[in-house]
Amino acid sequence: MGTSMGKGSQLESDSGCTLAVAIDGPAASGKSVIGREVARRLGIRFLDTGIMYRAVTWASIRKGVDPSRERELTSVAACSEIRLVTVREEDRLLLDGDDITDHLRHREVDMVVSVVSAVSGVRRALVAQQRAIAEDGPIVMCGRDIGTIVLPDACVKVFLTAAVEVRARRRTAEKAGNADYEKIMDELMRRDRIDSEREDSPLRPAKDAITIPTDNMTIEEVVQVILSKVQ
Ligand code: CDP
Repeated sequence: MGTSMGKGSQLESDSGCTLAVAIDGPAASGKSVIGREVARRLGIRFLDTGIMYRAVTWASIRKGVDPSRERELTSVAACSEIRLVTVREEDRLLLDGDDITDHLRHREVDMVVSVVSAVSGVRRALVAQQRAIAEDGPIVMCGRDIGTIVLPDACVKVFLTAAVEVRARRRTAEKAGNADYEKIMDELMRRDRIDSEREDSPLRPAKDAITIPTDNMTIEEVVQVILSKVQ
């Protein structure tokens, strides 16, 4: 995966828990920007698991697999090789050797990613890869099920929240005037609903997670709260 850091870190713990920070939360709650910054400050690796689900979704669209065909989606997830690499300080995702990073946030992926992610076979394939990555050393990992399923022994678990209006505003700003706020809000709500209601690994905070309502917080403030828990 795309990492520039070694294994030595401030996260080495005597308590026997996995040396990891798990960050979960709904769409556009800031997980990846905050997770990346926490990892940078700690000098450890970062993995945004959402891009792995997006990669499988992109691959299934390209192969013309209907989102209702669970067996075929499972086979796409099991047979695709996902590699995360750093090129000129940028994280890139290679799917079977092709750099597909620029496609991962396309609208067509946004439209079906939650349906693809609800398929247990898809989750099994990706969770196994995520756990293998975590075994290589300390990491900050973000997603929907990191604290509950992927790394239940993570030392620090965080669940980020924000009102859907706030999240839609943030995502509209990211798209630099090239987006319709109302549409984005509908899309976030639809995705949150599917992610929360699915049977396998629904979006929810782990019992031992700290919930951080980020509505009125800056990125730096959220990063500081997480770092204080790590220490
Ligand atoms: O960046 P954003 O919050 O919009 O989404 P993302 O983190 O890229 O995740 C895209 C989709 O992947 C989510 O809506 C979930 O359906 C799925 N996902 C998941 O099921 N489990 C994860 N650990 C990460 C993402």
